[in-house]
Amino acid sequence: MIPVNEPLLDGNEKKYLLECIETGWISSEGPFIKEFEKKFADSVERKYGIAVTSGTAALDAAVESLGIGDDDEVIMPSFTIISCIGQIIRAGAKPVLVDSDPVTWNMDVTKIEEKITSKTKAIMVVHVYGLPVDMDAVLDITERYGLKIIEDAAQMHGQTYHGKPCGSFGDISTFSFYPNKHITTGEGGMVVTNVDELSEDCRSLRNLCFQPGKRFVHERLGWNLRMTNLQAALGLAQLERLEEFVQRKRHMGCRYNELLSGLTNVQLPLAKTDYADNIYWVYGLLLNDELGIDAEEAMQRLADKAIGARPFFCPMHMQPVLRRMGLFEGESYPVAERLYRQGFYIPSGMALTDCQIEEVAAAVWDVLQ
Ligand SMILES: Cc1ncc(COP(=O)(O)O)c(C=O)c1O
Repeated sequence: MIPVNEPLLDGNEKKYLLECIETGWISSEGPFIKEFEKKFADSVERKYGIAVTSGTAALDAAVESLGIGDDDEVIMPSFTIISCIGQIIRAGAKPVLVDSDPVTWNMDVTKIEEKITSKTKAIMVVHVYGLPVDMDAVLDITERYGLKIIEDAAQMHGQTYHGKPCGSFGDISTFSFYPNKHITTGEGGMVVTNVDELSEDCRSLRNLCFQPGKRFVHERLGWNLRMTNLQAALGLAQLERLEEFVQRKRHMGCRYNELLSGLTNVQLPLAKTDYADNIYWVYGLLLNDELGIDAEEAMQRLADKAIGARPFFCPMHMQPVLRRMGLFEGESYPVAERLYRQGFYIPSGMALTDCQIEEVAAAVWDVLQ
């Protein structure tokens, strides 16, 4: 089986992990944490980095630190992962959805403004699969209406928008270091911001809101979202290779483009826009209805040929757990629905070899033409 993702851990990972074990620094107190936070924040031109246990945890802390709560509305794409919506709902706020752009698969920025009400507090942008959201359009709206931006850059390590790093656009921005990301810590995430208060808040929320002086007396409920020194050791070693990893992913994307470009009724990822070249976090395929099969069927046929694949996100307005809460009744987002029904991605992990890319492409031709 060619797995859909496999990380590359053959740099300084072993050396730094050994250092943790030999020095005994395995908790969240170790020196790699600070170094990883500083170097990662620098890499996306931010003042502060707060390392946490996952990209989901980073989003939870980010939403909470902005004080989003009862009666607030947050505009976000329907086509995203459930991690984006959890804390908005738990905080008592209302998620307001927008559809996706059929070409970039990102949030359709032309549909944001019509969703703004007097209760709108923030826009959550989520860069998906390899291309950034068109941030100029979002920044124009947030400036005119005085809204905050939460930027989910979980998949965007090393990507830029008009040359400026993804993760540098939100009042607060978040990353994931799950092993399918460009750089990994096993499990992990990071909040980045330039705002002193948001940074302090996230640090406190990450650490159960312990108070200096009165450690076990709490004025606020936090979480234990602390990343360990072991994870930060991995992250640091991975960060050293970010540029190489980005190049490798772009090479994979270009190779797949060459090998698959003759397919009919299959939409390949857009290679570039006027603001960014695709970073190919994953290599997605979107099937036209004319092909007569959906993503599930295509993935099954690939599995029969020992090729791994994963479905695209299930949109938020189709999530049973959210529908049962009475959310999004009667709402429809046709592009997001089509992405879910007809979209999936093929192996594109960091350890994928050129030979495997050719093998996958041949299987895709067999299965889809
Ligand atoms: C866009 C996006 N946001 C958030 C997350 C959540 O990250 P994690 O799996 O580290 O919790 C993911 C995970 O893939 C993601 O793709």
